[in-house]
Amino acid sequence: MTQPAARKRVLSGIQPSGNLHLGNYFGAIRQFVELQETLDCYYFIADYHALTTIQDRDRLRTYSRDVAATYLALGVDPERAVFWRQSDVPEVCELTWLLLTVTGVGLLERAHSYKDKVAKNIRPSGGLFAYPALMAADILAFDTDFVPVGKDQVQHIEMTQDMAASFNAAYGEVLHRPEPRMSPVPRVPGTDWERDADGEFKRDEAGRRMPQKMSKSYGNTIEIFAEGKALKRAVGGITTDSKALGEPMDPDDCLVFQLTELFLDEAETEALRGRYREGCGYGEVKKLLIAKIDERFGPHRERKRELLADPDYLEDVLASGAARARAVARATLDRARDASGLGAPPSA
Ligand code: ADP
Ligand code: TRP
Repeated sequence: MTQPAARKRVLSGIQPSGNLHLGNYFGAIRQFVELQETLDCYYFIADYHALTTIQDRDRLRTYSRDVAATYLALGVDPERAVFWRQSDVPEVCELTWLLLTVTGVGLLERAHSYKDKVAKNIRPSGGLFAYPALMAADILAFDTDFVPVGKDQVQHIEMTQDMAASFNAAYGEVLHRPEPRMSPVPRVPGTDWERDADGEFKRDEAGRRMPQKMSKSYGNTIEIFAEGKALKRAVGGITTDSKALGEPMDPDDCLVFQLTELFLDEAETEALRGRYREGCGYGEVKKLLIAKIDERFGPHRERKRELLADPDYLEDVLASGAARARAVARATLDRARDASGLGAPPSA
């Protein structure tokens, strides 16, 4: 009898460095839920990574719990996907060290996450510098085939491929090469336009203003679970031009359109374009966006509240996920340690 082919393995993580937003949903979480139907899925809360920005134990714990409840409320199913907290599998730190020893400083210096900080005159910590090696260890410890991420993370996956190749060149075929799996919505716009250091709008080749990426670090997010007044405030805060009612508006130069479009099918998008030509006013579109957010996420809000009210359940889920994850990472570490000559030699 032939064995069924092993299912491809998918792995991804999200940092608990703030409340999760529409960028995280469309760029990451939506795929996490879809992929668990057919693939061998590993998802985790990247709390070691978050230490590069959050150094406050209560905030880190609160965000970690919030991310866990958000994943589960939106449909990540711990029966089908392995779901854990990164720091419960400390093997990844050991693999980070092994990878750093085969990685040139030049590679780490080219990371956007590092270069951006340097460009902003922020003196990065050693942890931020080594961040791509920790991310590579997360991926390589689990023999990952695919990493579903938004566009901003693709460079990190390419660096992971380089680190795996360097390790294997030194010690033989120990680590498995992963591929990025880009989300169909790789870059969700934030509530504002991108500007350069002089405050001028950044423009694409066609001269159009470019939205800034929605990100916890830019304070331009709409949170997945915002509701009521907070949701109104977030959507109300999306930058728009001043236009008189009835004056035609350009959907392709409008952040509210770009965000609302994420929730619409083709026919609805065409209809909305029509309303723009008629000059419907931004207020109407903002109301539509709020309605769409309520419709999509409303049914999951209660589930999230229940999960947050039951920390013991959340911890149980994370602990059993960590036990499963740890066994896999341990096996990879044993291979990597042996290949590199660490620890006692195998008995003769
Ligand atoms: P943030 O920039 O808000 O800190 P993270 O870096 O924690 O977000 O991202 C977690 C996941 O969500 C990653 O896979 C990332 O690619 C995805 N993601 C974050 N922001 C966006 C966005 N604006 N558009 C698409 N994907 C995004
Ligand atoms: N660096 C990722 C981010 O900020 C989070 C992350 C950590 C991750 N380890 C990972 C994503 C491994 C995918 C795979 O979004």
